[in-house]
Amino acid sequence: MATNPVDGQVGAAGSTSALLYSPVLPKSQISPNATGTLGILNVNGPTVAASNPFFQSLGTNGRSCATCHQPENAMSISAFSVQLRYLLSGGKDPLFAAFDGANCPDAVSSTALPFAIGDPSNPHSLLLNRALIRIGLPWPPKGVTPEFTIAGVYDPTRCELSPTYGIFSAQPTVSVYRRSLMAGNLKFVTTVGPGAAAPGQILPLDSNGQPESGNIMYDGREPTLQSQAADAIMGHAQAAALPSAAVIQQIVDFENGIYVAQNFDAQALSLTDLGATGGPSALAAATAGLTAAPNTFSEYAGWATLPWYDLQAVQRESVARGEAIFNSRTFIVSNVAGINDLIGTNSLSATCTLCHANTSDGNDVHPQAEINEGTTGGAFALPANDLPTFKLVCSAGKTTPFDGSTVIVRDPGKALITGKCADIGKVKSAQLRGLAARAPYFHDGSAATLQDVVNFYNKRFQINFTAQEQADLINFLRTL
Ligand code: HEC
Ligand code: HEC
Repeated sequence: MATNPVDGQVGAAGSTSALLYSPVLPKSQISPNATGTLGILNVNGPTVAASNPFFQSLGTNGRSCATCHQPENAMSISAFSVQLRYLLSGGKDPLFAAFDGANCPDAVSSTALPFAIGDPSNPHSLLLNRALIRIGLPWPPKGVTPEFTIAGVYDPTRCELSPTYGIFSAQPTVSVYRRSLMAGNLKFVTTVGPGAAAPGQILPLDSNGQPESGNIMYDGREPTLQSQAADAIMGHAQAAALPSAAVIQQIVDFENGIYVAQNFDAQALSLTDLGATGGPSALAAATAGLTAAPNTFSEYAGWATLPWYDLQAVQRESVARGEAIFNSRTFIVSNVAGINDLIGTNSLSATCTLCHANTSDGNDVHPQAEINEGTTGGAFALPANDLPTFKLVCSAGKTTPFDGSTVIVRDPGKALITGKCADIGKVKSAQLRGLAARAPYFHDGSAATLQDVVNFYNKRFQINFTAQEQADLINFLRTL
């Protein structure tokens, strides 16, 4: 047994810490969720969890990669499954390790009674309610003189001002709280597509001599999946030393072989019926890195006109309309740092595919594509008063492209890595697959449902979706 040094929690060494899957991940599996089933394709499978390092405890707190990247949750975690694990384990699942599975490591006391899930004083409230993991980043960023100061903080977790873990501690740290990104469909994250780099743009090369995507992690801070895995082992799993490069490569090979996508919908039924190409097999066969704009998705084009005998036609036509809205409904994109400033117009007629361009997957195909579309602060961010908020003030002569030189954000995003005012609030547009299996949404879990996501966009870009269009878009997103 391994004991968590911080709060005395106990997890079995070698445990997968997952209560929701079997000891073997077969080559192909389906898993139920609120609106259908997720298809999980393990192209190199079947995988015996006990003998694959992705599922093994490689550190000191009993956690494995699968603790936060569950096949059933589209290689992420959902708030629902987090709550289930809290109840089933009495809060002892290694997921809840105080280091980053609590609002702050010092919020957890080994003598405190177990808290109810809905209790706002539950030290794991952000993980339970929003499936958020604490990411502690050094302040100032390593090797960088930042262009801004942290001039104020709203600190409901009491971690930013903690004498041991906060901004003024011996190891000054800013804690941001983020959703675990999908550790699957990763060719879409790491492939920089032909034409995706701006003309003349030279991308840094990784250790294998391949161009870096610059899009691994919300703030793009990891150059390769290998460095990402190593940092996860030292960080999330609190290891004392790294395993061999061969073990890290085994982890990367495993996650590179996993494809996840919804393959059955409660109302549209089979997502591969009558010409539709949903589900993980078509995704695994698709070429990553294509910007075939305007059609990021064409999985449900075949459902636009269905044969007379199809009993699911009403729902399927709605899915097809939702896909068409995603691909072609135009609206004006303005005040997005990382887009409008770079292209030199602050009034750009665009569709959802502008930022969700990677064909079949919907993430951003462009390298170093972190942007600030306003999910983390400003007039349109969805409310989340349980999250910390920072007031950042740029030094003389420095400013953000659209938000002035004093900015209030829940997550400084890429600016915590680069120290640049222009990068404040920038995060990547993540994959859109497996959404039904991994609510809530956005980097900080501020959108509890897909309706919340659509509400955000409707206001942010003044789209004026009708009720029918919103329903169609949601019916489509939940089939991805
Ligand atoms: C305690 C939870 C936790 C554990 C354990 C964990 N991760 Fe993660 N993972 C996260 C979070 C949170 C993020 C996003 C962090 C960010 O963007 O700052 C992430 C991001 C990633 C990404 C980036 C995906 C993308 O689209 O950029 C990969 C890949 C990944 N993790 C793989 C792993 C591997 C491999 C392991 C085991 C060695 C692991 N993770 C262990 C929580 C976890
Ligand atoms: C200006 C660029 C841009 C446009 C246009 C855009 N998105 Fe996004 N989208 C993003 C970014 C960036 C994120 C990540 C935001 C975050 O995590 O806070 C995101 C996140 C999302 C997510 C949540 C993904 C997750 O894993 O949490 C969904 C769903 C989504 N967008 C759907 C849409 C739809 C539907 C449209 C069109 C109505 C759209 N987006 C238009 C940039 C954009």
